[in-house]
Amino acid sequence: MTLWETDENFSLYFGPFQGITDVYFRRLFMQYFGGVDKVFTPFFAGVDKDNRKSLKTAEIDPQLNNTFITIPQLLSKNADELLRFASHCKQTGYREINWNLGCPSPQVADKKRGSGLLPYPEEIDRILNSYFEVNPLNLSVKCRFGLEHVNEFDSLLKVFNRYPISELIVHARVGRQRYLGSALAEEFKRYIPLLNLPLVYNGDIFSESDFVRYRNQFSVINMFMLGRGLLSDPFLAREMKGMVPLLNKKEILRDFVVELFHVRQAAATHKLSPIGKQKELWSYLMWSFDEPQTVWRIIRKTTGIAEYEAAVDHVFCTREWIGQGFGKRGRTTEVVDLTA
Ligand SMILES: Cc1cc2nc3c(=O)[nH]c(=O)nc-3n(C[C@H](O)[C@H](O)[C@H](O)COP(=O)(O)O)c2cc1C
Repeated sequence: MTLWETDENFSLYFGPFQGITDVYFRRLFMQYFGGVDKVFTPFFAGVDKDNRKSLKTAEIDPQLNNTFITIPQLLSKNADELLRFASHCKQTGYREINWNLGCPSPQVADKKRGSGLLPYPEEIDRILNSYFEVNPLNLSVKCRFGLEHVNEFDSLLKVFNRYPISELIVHARVGRQRYLGSALAEEFKRYIPLLNLPLVYNGDIFSESDFVRYRNQFSVINMFMLGRGLLSDPFLAREMKGMVPLLNKKEILRDFVVELFHVRQAAATHKLSPIGKQKELWSYLMWSFDEPQTVWRIIRKTTGIAEYEAAVDHVFCTREWIGQGFGKRGRTTEVVDLTA
């Protein structure tokens, strides 16, 4: 089956990236590229009192977010906190919240949060039970197979199957893998018939050909979450969807990157902080240029605003946009050192 032989009856979601896919990014992404059906906020945490300050941010402000397609995400191990978050999101017009059970960072997982909660299915059961007793708003879950071992999922799926979770998004790795190695697609396939929930596949979809492969491998799955592939090539989702091809991709990308920087600068309290965020984005975009390492060398060493802007100009004037480069061109286990 090629992409064009599929019924195109599938949904694509843009996964959250802490430090990159903030509200400004999400707004401009939809304006410039689109092709995704839902976008997820990077996780909120510490929502420990009603109307907590952390909820009064642009990140979740309904004036700045499309509440129909934006899904606020919470990292928590507490049912009251999930309920508080859900009730706030409901009041402000959102239709779903997402519970993060996948974050692999040791600072998070070692505190039994994110993927660190996965070895405790009874606790997850208690939290879901308390949530669904009230059930104020659709709750989707984003998880991995486990923290240490894939077979942790054997007990987890029994818990998930008991609740009306609106969607279960599985990043096909275990927490200890972080983002390294390959997604465990065969394991995902093995679990499909054991789950009776709407299931979303996430992991290593970096190109249209990856997508065709996964579509063939899991023919019953029609919801997919994209991550690093879409950060690296923001045109990827619309190309998968067969939307009208955009000419002048390099110019469109340039306008996006420039506008994003301006918008972030206008919103920032510290003038230089947007440069760090832009560099994080560039650490993915670089892979879809003809010479990734050259692009990164030009961008990474910049410190001031004028210097950063000149570097961006230089990249767009001297390098070619190839597209769909993440995974193909040398990366996937390599982590770019943002401090270098
Ligand atoms: C720097 C970074 C930040 C991330 N932040 C979040 C987050 O806040 N919430 C979340 O659920 N996943 C987060 N993720 C995971 C991605 O959303 C996605 O699940 C992961 O990259 C796997 O998809 P991919 O293989 O298509 O990239 C993050 C990943 C990275 C690399």
